[in-house]
Amino acid sequence: MLKENRRFRLVSRPQGTPQADNFSFDRQPLPVAGDGQFVVRNHYASLDPAMRGWMDDLPSYMPPIELGDAVRAATIGVIVESKTPDYPVGQWVAGLHALEDYSLGAPGGTTRRIEPAAGVPITNYLSIMGGVGLTAYFGFFEECRPKAGDTILVSGAAGAVGSLVGQMASLAGCRTIGIAGGPEKCGRILARYGFSAAIDYKGKDVKELAAAIKAAAPDGLDIVFENVGGIPLDAALLNLRKGARVALCGLISEYNAPERIGARNLWPLIPAHASIRGVLATEFMTEFPAARAQLERWLVAGRLKIDEHVETGLDQAYAAFMRLFDGRHDGKLLLKIV
Ligand SMILES: NC(=O)c1ccc[n+]([C@@H]2O[C@H](COP(=O)([O-])OP(=O)(O)OC[C@H]3O[C@@H](n4cnc5c(N)ncnc54)[C@H](OP(=O)(O)O)[C@@H]3O)[C@@H](O)[C@H]2O)c1
Repeated sequence: MLKENRRFRLVSRPQGTPQADNFSFDRQPLPVAGDGQFVVRNHYASLDPAMRGWMDDLPSYMPPIELGDAVRAATIGVIVESKTPDYPVGQWVAGLHALEDYSLGAPGGTTRRIEPAAGVPITNYLSIMGGVGLTAYFGFFEECRPKAGDTILVSGAAGAVGSLVGQMASLAGCRTIGIAGGPEKCGRILARYGFSAAIDYKGKDVKELAAAIKAAAPDGLDIVFENVGGIPLDAALLNLRKGARVALCGLISEYNAPERIGARNLWPLIPAHASIRGVLATEFMTEFPAARAQLERWLVAGRLKIDEHVETGLDQAYAAFMRLFDGRHDGKLLLKIV
């Protein structure tokens, strides 16, 4: 047990792109568990685009991070002090904690005990077996309502959610087109994640990207799984097929933008009688155990591949987090704390 708690704290709200001085990395007294609580020694943290949204004081599905608090993050670690019987000392636990050595936790919400399965690395519980896997699973199977033979377009296809959606869509018998940044990532989504076609969005305006999508899907798109927004979304909306389903998972291209524009090409939804729906895995919490069991079966059987990019050190949290926005990571971005 360390004598102090190193914490990566939010000290001012970013205006646009987060800057290093929006954060402070310092040492504070160790937390002490109250009744019904535990203290977890965090081993790994998940670095997620959603964390950028939690830094803003705007209405969302979760309250903003309070100024002065450590930056909220999903973590996995081992309990070192407990005043709640079901979460004993020594237990691996995952939950929504923070970028710090030690966090206070409590049962409920997304907190859960982890019993590491043989052959499943502990980090997988923050990637494929965590929020990313569940978002891909429910976003694809529930919101996209796939049928064998459907053509699906996935933006952010080399990323954590996108790479899993592409693989699940192949398992469901869909034809998969991925959009990613640069030739290397495009090569990877074909070779490693089995996409049928890859489109590099870099340097393309809406018209050029829409033409590239049309060339890859001349009969149009049955499903759009949107992780990026902006140009990729506008281009996708120009290629909808009758009855298309657009699953809106994320809009990362807008998270650091001064204003959120949203979609500019909504009109094709009308003639296509298409739908657009938000993706929120927590709407399906009662089905999480069954979904995790399925994800684990696919993982162990080698039918789903997950890549993890691990940066090391709480003191590197800012630089590591910013990789989400310039794409300098292959797969799920994680921070190793100890
Ligand atoms: N709805 C939910 O509950 C939920 C849950 C998890 C994630 N999400 C959303 O899903 C999306 C993907 O999340 P993830 O965790 O899987 O992250 P990720 O895809 O692993 O990483 C983010 C990727 O986004 C791309 N990107 C970043 N800035 C961009 C920009 N300005 N324009 C175009 N592409 C940009 C980069 O890929 P390239 O190198 O290819 O550009 C980057 O690698 C995010 O929008 C996230 O908010 C939603």
